[in-house]
Amino acid sequence: MPSLAPPKVVNIFDLRHLAQRRLPAAVFDYIDGGAEAEVTLRENMRAFEEISFRPRNGVAIGQTDLRTNVLGTEMAFPVVVAPVGFTRLFHPEGERGVAQAANAAGLPYCLSSFSGYHVNELRKVSNGPLWYQLYIAGGREVAEASLERAQKAGFSVLAVTTDTNVPGYRERDVRNGNAQLMSGSLFAKIPYLPQLFSHPDWLFRFLADREALQFPNIEIDKAPMRADDVHKVLSQSVMQWSDMKWIRKAWKGPIVTKGISTGDDARRSLDEGAAGVIVSNHGGRQLDGSPASLRALPEVLEAINGRGEVLVDGGIRRGSDIVKAICMGAKAVLCGRAYAYGLAAAGQAGVTRAFEILRTDLDRTLKLLGCASVKQLDESYIRVNKPL
Ligand code: FNR
Repeated sequence: MPSLAPPKVVNIFDLRHLAQRRLPAAVFDYIDGGAEAEVTLRENMRAFEEISFRPRNGVAIGQTDLRTNVLGTEMAFPVVVAPVGFTRLFHPEGERGVAQAANAAGLPYCLSSFSGYHVNELRKVSNGPLWYQLYIAGGREVAEASLERAQKAGFSVLAVTTDTNVPGYRERDVRNGNAQLMSGSLFAKIPYLPQLFSHPDWLFRFLADREALQFPNIEIDKAPMRADDVHKVLSQSVMQWSDMKWIRKAWKGPIVTKGISTGDDARRSLDEGAAGVIVSNHGGRQLDGSPASLRALPEVLEAINGRGEVLVDGGIRRGSDIVKAICMGAKAVLCGRAYAYGLAAAGQAGVTRAFEILRTDLDRTLKLLGCASVKQLDESYIRVNKPL
């Protein structure tokens, strides 16, 4: 395993670099890339640079309080571990390793419908808070059965993803031959094989893990859904507002909608029974040209007007990004790639390192701001350099 201590791994970008070295391009770019020209992907990160801090100096902060609570879920610091599908492809420890690392860090983990591990297995390795992310893959009955299993396993909050009418067009995936590698004939695979053979460590681990490409929480015809069916299945079962009725019946706990970027959709979410929303553009992987999440946040906050929780994700790579999002009015953030790079770099240990980086960043930023608690953060600690 590579060293994850400084000076090798100082920040999330170092984990990204390690991931890039350890993974074939087809897998690294699947994590790292976005849709089409990747404008939204870049803007998600760039928007944070347009905000600067207004510190209160001359204030000694002994200890910071980073804890918060979202929809009944206590968390050690205001980060929900975002749903990221296919993680078993990055490293065989996959969602199991993420769940263990999140549990140890005191963070809730929102499991993707496209998880390589069964909800019961995750519950076995984590007694921490677990949330479930829903794609209506396979249709209503299949989804209802998966919700029932997740609730039985003690998953507490449901995130309904709303921004995936069809999979986004991720040009890097097309160039790397992901479709051919996933389901093509041997002949179709041939041009894309050198990238796999040039990463023998990854290839060996992948071939040894015989269950990397199936999703046991989506049971279609009594068998786990296969990864190569994702495009077909996603396009066949698009989430619509009318689905919220049966989803609300099937899920007893709080529901948040994920992928919200307008005030109208935020209001609609609450009207349909959601307890909150996640302002998100799927990490720039769906509709390129969607606004950076941070830029969409004010419109959504205004529409929600305190009637529900507002979370945000997209572009969080540093603790200072978390602070900025909270100063803007979000209750907490979700992080996707920040930990996915860690998983790809070194399995569970890499995820643990990612959380440690974000937590220590957050603690330091609060001390430098002269603010003792994340609950005290507000817009008086930031200045928007250019109109967002
Ligand atoms: C995702 N995301 C995602 N979202 C979701 O609702 N279900 C899913 O299965 C996935 N899968 C997925 C895979 C990969 C590789 C990535 C990078 C992202 C989106 C994710 O939950 C989150 O919205 C973004 O990752 C947030 O942006 P950052 O933190 O990656 O910049």
